[in-house]
Amino acid sequence: MVALNSTVARFEQMDDIQFERWTDLLEQRTGMHLPRERRSFLETSLGLRMKEIGVHNYAAYYEHLQSERYGQREWLTLVDRLTVHETRFFRHQPSIDVLEQIILPVLFDSEADRKNLQMWSAGCSTGEEAYTLGMVADQFLQKRNSQKNCYISIIGMDISVPALVRARKAVYNRYKVRYVPDNYLNNYFTAQQDGRYQVKEQLKKRVCFVPFNIIDMKKVLLEPMDIIFCQNVLIYFNRDRRKQIIHQLVRRLKKGGFLVMGAGEALNNPHPELKKIDFANALAFVKK
Ligand SMILES: C[S@@+](CC[C@H](N)C(=O)[O-])C[C@H]1O[C@@H](n2cnc3c(N)ncnc32)[C@H](O)[C@@H]1O
Repeated sequence: MVALNSTVARFEQMDDIQFERWTDLLEQRTGMHLPRERRSFLETSLGLRMKEIGVHNYAAYYEHLQSERYGQREWLTLVDRLTVHETRFFRHQPSIDVLEQIILPVLFDSEADRKNLQMWSAGCSTGEEAYTLGMVADQFLQKRNSQKNCYISIIGMDISVPALVRARKAVYNRYKVRYVPDNYLNNYFTAQQDGRYQVKEQLKKRVCFVPFNIIDMKKVLLEPMDIIFCQNVLIYFNRDRRKQIIHQLVRRLKKGGFLVMGAGEALNNPHPELKKIDFANALAFVKK
């Protein structure tokens, strides 16, 4: 490693063969496709981790990851470093709008005595999307007096265990809650003395966070969902993988359930059982 200055460091450069070996491993285990332009990101992420654990070259680190004793644990740490966890509350307003204005009214109008509503945030990162779904659905039900006893539950899943640990803690700093509208902030968070915000128990207890690998969904036993949000996850996968993932998501959706993806993430006609909802700037589908 050559130190450029105290804050920026360059790590050993990878040749094409090494790059391919690492990107193959990543693709096999997570489905993520790392393009050539991201080689320096890979070098830096691996380099930093190798420095932390005192491994001196890529080949030795690769072997370390295969080791029966330490490999699995180390892989969990590395995956966390290689995945992008950027997220925020109320991240994409048109998706929230379609949820409030179309999805929830359709689900509750079609089943007046509905006892529960099951939602899934697939690729939930540090929990903001899952809690947002919970808050929006709860507000919706508060306004519908007759249905407010319906039990809302949300499952957040992600490949990154450290992200899930943060999601379960449900404590966010002021910057993280900057897009939470005031009425939601007042109703669902408690301001702590240290300036951070804790999600209130009434919401927290409805959300459960579970590790999962989206390319390995066959192993996931879940009851069929009413609503699945899978946003800003598929962008990291190639076309074939996206197709397979969407297929698996649709299998876990109830008939009449809704899938909401990030704008621009789906393929044309992603699945024969999905019908697109006509709503500006949102990519939402209903299962026929
Ligand atoms: C950019 S975040 C999106 C978070 C949230 N859905 C949102 O839109 O704000 C992408 C998340 O996908 C997760 N992810 C990446 N590959 C995955 C995989 N194979 N299985 C499950 N989660 C994965 C990452 O760990 C990361 O937390």
